[in-house]
Amino acid sequence: MNVLILGSGGREHAFTLKLSESNKISNLFVAPGNAGTDKIAKNININPTDFIAVKNLVLQNNINMVVVGPEAPLVEGVHDFFLADAELKNIPVIGPKKDGALLEGSKDFSKQFMQKHNVPTAKYQSFTKDNLTDGFTFLETLEPPYVLKADGLAAGKGVLILNSLDEAKAELEEMVSNQKFGEASSTVVIEEFLKGIELSVFVLTDGKNYKILPSAKDYKRIGEGDTGLNTGGMGAISPVPFADESFLNKVEELVVKPTIAGLQKDGIDYRGFIFIGLMNDNGNPSVVEYNVRMGDPETEVVLPRIESDLFDLFEGVANQTLDQKSFSVTDKTATTVMLVSGGYPEAYQKEKEITGFDNVNDSIVFHAGTKIKDNKVVTNGGRVMAISSFGNTIEEALQKSYKSIDKINFDKMNYRKDIGFDLV
Ligand code: AMP
Ligand code: GLY
Repeated sequence: MNVLILGSGGREHAFTLKLSESNKISNLFVAPGNAGTDKIAKNININPTDFIAVKNLVLQNNINMVVVGPEAPLVEGVHDFFLADAELKNIPVIGPKKDGALLEGSKDFSKQFMQKHNVPTAKYQSFTKDNLTDGFTFLETLEPPYVLKADGLAAGKGVLILNSLDEAKAELEEMVSNQKFGEASSTVVIEEFLKGIELSVFVLTDGKNYKILPSAKDYKRIGEGDTGLNTGGMGAISPVPFADESFLNKVEELVVKPTIAGLQKDGIDYRGFIFIGLMNDNGNPSVVEYNVRMGDPETEVVLPRIESDLFDLFEGVANQTLDQKSFSVTDKTATTVMLVSGGYPEAYQKEKEITGFDNVNDSIVFHAGTKIKDNKVVTNGGRVMAISSFGNTIEEALQKSYKSIDKINFDKMNYRKDIGFDLV
């Protein structure tokens, strides 16, 4: 089997490494990939949202399956493109079609979906510039802090949490009338603030059956103690200690089952990952968001814990035989710490040489924003590498990640030294 992975981050390096362990796969391709995937697969430098380029690559290399890492190609319809093309329609795509991808592509759609199928989530209403004053009135009925979300994809920046009512009103107006987040904020979801502690649960589904993968907690803020600007994620831990059996049972019964059943009822044939962002409020789950892909850096702790052949599970997704598949997960804890470019998540420099990572042997080095230039591995993004380790405890795993990091260097390298601080 020849498999193509779309994307270029740490998540995609983790997919590539995991799939490279499958004896059913002969050739792995990554588009565009990074310096890490280049070592274990063939990188092809195309943009995953250029579907014609993806088609040519698939046909030229006799690809038998496509695994989609990021949300953009899914929201733009890469799976629908394959199904509509005579030469591609029998090649399975792991990732939902456009209708399912709306769970991430439109916050308004996903809130309507949750409400319709009784999935616990914060109370909400949606507004556009045409009913802005109703938005002001709705805000007045809520307690601070106020949560405003751009309906569409806004590169992870479209959620504002504000303490003052006046500020919330002003921001709402900026979003819907002045397109603060472009077209993405022409509709805004306003919702109740949820208290509690966040975690993510990952589900793989073939549209009928599902498997619940290990849970994870990520650390989104740039600064220690969860302060400063939001990032794509600075580190992650799996499993999540407070997500005990009783909580995870509630998640399965109250969230996962109604979500899968809801997709079926609504005629959405969903084949791929569902990333469920949850708030645990005193043992009760409430959905913060759905994503239609795996998380990054959560994948860098979730996949290493899966001991079975991931490709076998993907075949189950493609053939709707996921119920006949089984998989096992190590009891060990996995942690990852993200190395980022100084300045990230604001402006930062690229093409800094990265040294020392080849000397790491107690951790897995997942490349994210890296590339090869003049035979050297250099930085090529804000998030550069995720350093993942196993341990019997969170502390033990983290100690390994931090010891490995001591060997790695690039100009203005930054990372959080307190990943897991709230759990240990
Ligand atoms: P989202 O893109 O919907 O995941 O929102 C980004 C982040 O904002 C989440 O990971 C939460 O930390 C926070 N957030 C979103 N919605 C809420 C809410 N209703 N209550 C509290 N925090 C929220
Ligand atoms: N780490 C959060 C995400 O992948 O969206």
